[in-house]
Amino acid sequence: MYARKILDGIHEIGIQDWGRRLFDSLIPLPDGTSYNSYLIEGSEKTAIIDSVDPEFADQYLANLSEIAKVDYIISLHSEQDHSGSIPMLMELYPSAELLCSPKAKDLLVEHLLIDPTKLSTVSDGETISLGDKSLTFIYTPWVHWPETMVAYLKEDRVLFSCDFLGSHSAGSELFDDDDPAVLEAAKRYYAEIMMPFKSAIRQNLGKIRPLKIDFIAPSHGPVWNHPEKIISAYEDWVSDRVENKVVIPYISMHGSTQKMVDHFSRELIKRGVKVELFDLSVTDIGKLAMALVDAATIVIGSPTVHVGPHPIVANTAILANAIKPKARYAAVIGSYGWATKMVDGILALLPNLKVEVLGSVVAKGQAKAASLDELTQLAELIYLKHRDI
Ligand code: FEO
Repeated sequence: MYARKILDGIHEIGIQDWGRRLFDSLIPLPDGTSYNSYLIEGSEKTAIIDSVDPEFADQYLANLSEIAKVDYIISLHSEQDHSGSIPMLMELYPSAELLCSPKAKDLLVEHLLIDPTKLSTVSDGETISLGDKSLTFIYTPWVHWPETMVAYLKEDRVLFSCDFLGSHSAGSELFDDDDPAVLEAAKRYYAEIMMPFKSAIRQNLGKIRPLKIDFIAPSHGPVWNHPEKIISAYEDWVSDRVENKVVIPYISMHGSTQKMVDHFSRELIKRGVKVELFDLSVTDIGKLAMALVDAATIVIGSPTVHVGPHPIVANTAILANAIKPKARYAAVIGSYGWATKMVDGILALLPNLKVEVLGSVVAKGQAKAASLDELTQLAELIYLKHRDI
């Protein structure tokens, strides 16, 4: 058996996926990830909260080898990296009751072909007793699927939060231990997965704020033994606060857009505006997503391919539109050879962004003095807009 003790009767029994480098075939995982599963042993009953990615079912089975009886299997979230080994758990512990939220029932049936008669749903605020420990379920929809919920163990002040408040990283350390790298991984995770659901997260944070919490046990990454750190970070990330910062994702093919980006970024820096540049031909899109969490402005730079945006820029615009950063302002800069509809093409990809478009600067061929002057004026406009932040 493999188990890491959080407190008496509470162990983490999941998997470290050290080698995974991509999630959803999209999101970079520079430090791997973990699929945390929790064993809760009360004086009368035993529960397992969430399972692991089915790719690791054999290793998970070995982790469970000394657990003779389980009364409850609890699914806080139906996505397969946590639910995928639940069918195996149900075979291993046929008398266990599978508990989930009502919205999860259909998802577990559809995704894992679980017999619906084997599922029991719990209501919002319902508590089950394990004897000297109890678990109270709190619906926290849209972190990041509609069915998600958390479980609160009040006797030990532990909140089991599944994806919510988690971080993608594999490691031997069980707890965050105030390591800034864990918070950075959590911000990356928030940016990539949670950011589109800011208003739901705000409401969910309001539900867990009144709880007395010593530990937050998510389904990815270390257990938070400094829970205030991640809760207050989330409160900031979902707030309306933005930084005096311009994020500039761009591509350059023959150097003209690069020259424009360099001039523009220097004009911003001269004015005391923070800039973060991302050359999309080499960038880690996770870092770009993190930069977008609190940037006031996004300026997209693109050359023209045929008459539209460069496909890599278009791809990034689609991603930015999907993760819905709270930026207040946007602009497009770039270049073209003989004709262009690049600016319209990019803006059409950003309907979800609630931004004021401050303008565009587009150069034919080499960026010459007139275009550089326009970029200087755009930098000044952004500086003036940011003074109100
Ligand atoms: Fe970690 Fe939404 O699954």
